[in-house]
Amino acid sequence: MDLTIRIPRPDDWHVHLRDGAMLEAVVGYTASRFRYAMIMPNLNPPIATTELADRYQKRILRAAGNQSPEFQPLMTVYCSTNLDQDDLIRGHEAGIVKAVKYYPAGATTNSDHGGDNILNFIDLFETMADQKIPLLVHAESTNPEIDLFDREAAFLEQELHPLCEQVPNLQVTVEHVSTSVGVDFALAHQRVAASVTPHHLSRNSSDLMAPEFDPDLFCKPIINSEADRQAIVSVVTSGNPSFFLGTDSAPHPTSEKYGEEAKAGIFNAAYGLEVVAEIFAKENRIEHFSSFASKNGAAFYGYEPSQDELLLTRKQVDVELASTLSTRDGDKVVLFGRDEASHWTVSPI
Ligand code: DOR
Ligand code: ZN
Repeated sequence: MDLTIRIPRPDDWHVHLRDGAMLEAVVGYTASRFRYAMIMPNLNPPIATTELADRYQKRILRAAGNQSPEFQPLMTVYCSTNLDQDDLIRGHEAGIVKAVKYYPAGATTNSDHGGDNILNFIDLFETMADQKIPLLVHAESTNPEIDLFDREAAFLEQELHPLCEQVPNLQVTVEHVSTSVGVDFALAHQRVAASVTPHHLSRNSSDLMAPEFDPDLFCKPIINSEADRQAIVSVVTSGNPSFFLGTDSAPHPTSEKYGEEAKAGIFNAAYGLEVVAEIFAKENRIEHFSSFASKNGAAFYGYEPSQDELLLTRKQVDVELASTLSTRDGDKVVLFGRDEASHWTVSPI
C-alpha cells in the first residue's frame, strides 16, 4: 500500500523532555516535527511554579536551537499541595503556564509529590475553572488491591467522575487514555477530552507480556487488552474531536529500563508519527489522520492548526533506521516504532 498525505504540522499534547544531557539528546526529535508540545512537569524537583516553568521553557528552547522556528513548548505546572493559586493565575495570565498536571502519588515516574485523592484539590480546580486553566490528569488508581489493568477505570469512576460533577466547567484531559472505559468517559463528559499515545494505539498487553515481559513496552498506564486497543483505534480513526495525539514520549536510559526494576516510559518522539499514520492507513481512515494529529487538540486548547505542513509518504521499500540514541553522558535510549517507520518518510513541505 503506497500513499501520500499532507497534514498541518502536528502538535504533541503530552511529552516528557527531561533536562540536561537527556533534554539535549531528545528535544530535536520533537522540535523537528511538532509545532506545539505540551511539556510534562515531572522533573525532580517538579516544575511547580511559574518561575520554574519559565526557566525550564528557556532551557528547552536553548536546547532546541533555531532549526525549528515553529516549535513552541507549552508549559504545565505540577499539581501538589504546594501549588500557589496566585502564582498559577499570574503565570497563566502572563502566558507562561498553559495547564496544570495532576499525578496520583506513586503512579509513575517522579510522581511522589502528587495527590492522594484528586478530590482534595477541589478548591484549586474551582479557581482553574474560573480562570479557564485546563487540568491534565494521569488517570490511574494507585490502590494496590485493584488489578493493574483496572486502575484507569477505577480512578475514573472513583475520582474523576465525581470531580467533573462537582466542577462541571473545568476543562479536563484524560491523558494517555488506555482503555475502552477511558474512551467512553471522554465521550460521556462534555468538557473532557483524551490524549492518545502511539503505543496504546498500536500494542496490547500480549505484546507487553509474551513471550516474556518487554521493558521497552512498559509504561504507565499499562498497555491494556486488545479489546481496549481496538476501542481506542476505533474512536480515534473516526476523527472524533475529543481525541488527539499526545505521544507521552518518555525517555529512560537503557540502564534504567533493563535494571532490577524497569522504569515506566516509552521514547516515541522519533517514530511515533509513523506508528500513528500506519494505524490510520491500515484502518483505511487516513483522511482523519490530520484531525487526530494536527487539529483536534489545537481546537480543544483554543488554537488554530499550523499553517505549515508535513508530507508523509508510505512506500513498500524498507529503509534501515536507527534503533537507539545516545546522550553526551553515554546513556542509550531505545527508539520505539522502528518497524512502522521503516516504510514511511516524513518531510516538511
Ligand atoms: O510511562 C510513563 N512514563 N508514564 C508516565 O506517566 C510518566 C512517564 C515518565 O515520565 O517516564
Ligand atoms: Zn506522561
